[in-house]
Amino acid sequence: MKRVIVVGSGIAGLVAALELSQSCDVTLVTKAALADSNTRWAQGGIAAVMFEDDSVGEHIADTLSAGAGLCNESAVEVLCTEGPERIRDLIRLGVAFDKQDGELARGLEAAHGHARVLHAGGDATGLNLEMTLVRAVRAAKVRVMEQTFACELVVEDERVRGLEVLGGGKRSVLGADAVVLACGGAGQLYRYTTNPAVATGDGVALALRAGAQLADIEFYQFHPTALATKETFLISEAVRGEGAVLLDARGERFMQKLHPDAELAPRDVVARSIARQMALQGGKPVLLDAARLEREKGEGFLAKRFPTIDAAVKARGFDWAKEPVPVTPAAHYWMGGVKTDVWGRTSIAGLYAVGEVACTGVHGANRLASNSLLESLVYAWRCAEQLPQDDARRWPEMTGAVLALEMEEGRGAREVERGELQTLMWNRVGIERSGEGLREAAEQMASWRGCNPKIASVFERETANLLTIARAMVAVALDRRESRGAHYRVDYPETRVDMQHSIVCAEKVLVPAYE
Ligand code: SIN
Repeated sequence: MKRVIVVGSGIAGLVAALELSQSCDVTLVTKAALADSNTRWAQGGIAAVMFEDDSVGEHIADTLSAGAGLCNESAVEVLCTEGPERIRDLIRLGVAFDKQDGELARGLEAAHGHARVLHAGGDATGLNLEMTLVRAVRAAKVRVMEQTFACELVVEDERVRGLEVLGGGKRSVLGADAVVLACGGAGQLYRYTTNPAVATGDGVALALRAGAQLADIEFYQFHPTALATKETFLISEAVRGEGAVLLDARGERFMQKLHPDAELAPRDVVARSIARQMALQGGKPVLLDAARLEREKGEGFLAKRFPTIDAAVKARGFDWAKEPVPVTPAAHYWMGGVKTDVWGRTSIAGLYAVGEVACTGVHGANRLASNSLLESLVYAWRCAEQLPQDDARRWPEMTGAVLALEMEEGRGAREVERGELQTLMWNRVGIERSGEGLREAAEQMASWRGCNPKIASVFERETANLLTIARAMVAVALDRRESRGAHYRVDYPETRVDMQHSIVCAEKVLVPAYE
């Protein structure tokens, strides 16, 4: 029986562990509690073609159009074609998607030609999925190691042999025939994010240090509407899908002048437009008027349809049923990641990646809303189908030009401080970028170093991982002299047809040499 380690416990890790447990010896390693993940915070829902007036072809077309010419078309076809069956699996497992008149209820989000976003508990879709899958994993033959941090992959003879972990203050090595990275994104790279504290890009950093190829890591999606309070909170695009609108400081709509789809224009367009409007207003947030929904759809609509957001907004002192609330864009989703094929296989034999940590190419330069839970579900399942049959000695080679990065992790004069890194990323590697700003960021990052891996805490290791991926992201963003989807260069505003995927690997990783 193959020994498999799955790292991460969001939807991708839980589905992979659950499916693999039928044929492999599975250990699931997660750095917090089993139910702590980015998944549990997902609001809007999960997109899939479950209705007769919709079609897989249209879901594919919407995904490709949002992806701004950078999607891997065969990966998108897999996503949209296999999605409905995987949703039926979730229903069989016990996920209670919301219903209306006996049918699955469905929401609309930006850049979808049809309302096809399923939700559960109103806006608590992620929580419902997470808790159902946690129960299933607990009942399955899966060894669960909580509060266990993945430090490094063990790679020998160009094959994954295990994972070095830190748990209970002790470092140890777990041997394995295969490792599945499912440890999510990296919202903590940025000062404002919709992601929870666990989203520190550990999987991408681990893979990069082990020599794996990464793809399209310069593409980071900013969600247009997070509540503009000290502790930001996501206000789902589904709220705009129901008819809420954005207002400037004078209380006037501004998106209608900027895009034919107004508030439901592609996410990158809305996020950039809000950022520009905020700059015109001296940094003041714009306003989201959802109160109009109470007038149009009846009193109590917001609390019923969006109970989680309703509670969060009220807890922060706003009554969105009565007045517009301040919103700002915030870092939300990483389109790039560890490069994989359509079975989750990376460029290192025995290493797989699924979910946000991976780049299958389905999201291209700009993810279509609510396609990410679907991607995790479909690709974790596919990975679990394929892995037991794979032979690490006959591993498929990845083709395409690869840019080698020299990662000098140990050179900086002082240890990186997380808040400084987040502010630098927000200001220089955020919604709008320039060559000058990116070079400044690279220089500043060169003066920092990661942590001493022999004694570092989990928090310090996470921060060092953030620095590793930030450096790589800046190098690639500098190289992409065009604007496309979520990567906007003010000095290169046009899209260049000759620029396609960016693929990088670390040629030489110099980690701090401590005794
Ligand atoms: C949202 O509810 O707006 C987020 C959905 C997503 O990012 O897919």
